[in-house]
Amino acid sequence: MIFTALPASGPLTGTIRVPGDKSISHRAVLFAAMAEGTSRLTGVLDSADVRSTLAAVTALGAEVEVARPRGHGLDITVTGWGVEGPHQPASVIDCGNSGTTCRLLMGVLAPWPVTVTLDGDASLRTRPMRRVTEPLTLMGAGFTTTDGHLPVTIEGGVLRALRYESPVASAQVKTAILLAGLGAEGVTTVIEPAPSRDHTERLLPAFGVGVGCDHATHSCWVDGPEELAARDVTVPADPSSAAFLAGAAVIVPGSEVLLRDVALNPTRTGFLRVLERMGARTETVLEGATGAEPTGVVEISYAPGLHGTVVHAEEVPSLVDEVPLLAVVACAADGITRFEGVSELRVKETDRLSAIADGLTALGATVRTGDDWLEVEGPAHLHGARLSSLGDHRLAMAWAVAALQADGPVEIEDWEVVDVSYPDFARDLASLTAR
Ligand code: S3P
Repeated sequence: MIFTALPASGPLTGTIRVPGDKSISHRAVLFAAMAEGTSRLTGVLDSADVRSTLAAVTALGAEVEVARPRGHGLDITVTGWGVEGPHQPASVIDCGNSGTTCRLLMGVLAPWPVTVTLDGDASLRTRPMRRVTEPLTLMGAGFTTTDGHLPVTIEGGVLRALRYESPVASAQVKTAILLAGLGAEGVTTVIEPAPSRDHTERLLPAFGVGVGCDHATHSCWVDGPEELAARDVTVPADPSSAAFLAGAAVIVPGSEVLLRDVALNPTRTGFLRVLERMGARTETVLEGATGAEPTGVVEISYAPGLHGTVVHAEEVPSLVDEVPLLAVVACAADGITRFEGVSELRVKETDRLSAIADGLTALGATVRTGDDWLEVEGPAHLHGARLSSLGDHRLAMAWAVAALQADGPVEIEDWEVVDVSYPDFARDLASLTAR
């Protein structure tokens, strides 16, 4: 489907509560499926990626009941497999487009006597899986994969604890190892080169599992074996979805947008710190917490005189999904915005570094990129063009925000991929312009 995104015709104003956080939704469903007893999950993101996780845990023997209340997202009741363990599924588990589903499932399954084949769509089949299969192999799990990509068959078994220095700052890798560690005897530790999002460390204790953390050394650990007990979880709004509306507000003159109930976990809000450095006017009010996740309101308004900044490698994990949006905002800023240490973007849903450079260049911007860096020169006069999402939800939404500052419509091919994380993005963006 082609979506025609139009230049802004006036300021964006209003209040929005974006859908539930994708990372927390995946974890809530997976942990509830692993737990003994029945968990009630509220505000779970209703999107293709989370549906992949729901279908996977159902195939593995968890009982899942989904209701769609009128409020936010899904209310889900999950009765987990608990001490019985996951069932041997009847067929291949399709993880769709979802790297989180696939990589976290490897850790979930590793300690159990099941043989499970995980597969995914064309994009997921190109993404690296060795970063998870290698440490889990060291723990004693068996994997069959042609070249480190899906489809991957995992043969679970008796695991030994592991102390692992991960070469990448990746919450998916960290979580897979910690979840496998729950089924191993002894302390399993993951040490990262930089802190990645810490939702697993915050949510596992709610399910009765202790997680140790040493922030100074970017390390965390579990002491297995451990069993999870059912728990009720409420999912706050996704900062990565909020980022697109925040970025839109920053570049459209006269805009004032209020984003409610946003997860304000500092391992996720790097994009706000970068927007502030670029001269954006934001006000973040921490209102409380949803479970162990800090939540609050983000007020963001148009900022004339934005200027370029340097995004350093250490802060990339805290904004790894927001680089496409920040690159679009950089087109409206004076001077060069440089992103350093962003090679991870090459192995996301698509090669996002090349895609950002090609897309913004087609719109008229000057963009340079190297193996692990990206530079956008602003201010750029953007014009209308036809772009593809390349099957990547975050690129689709970034192009729609770019259109707001262009002098003509931007046609976005494969728009339907926004279903992966923010199905109602176009409706929410339009609601901010409706007067
Ligand atoms: C995620 C972690 C990040 C992020 C992805 C979701 C998670 O990936 O890009 O969208 O839920 O753990 P990495 O951990 O591989 O960086």
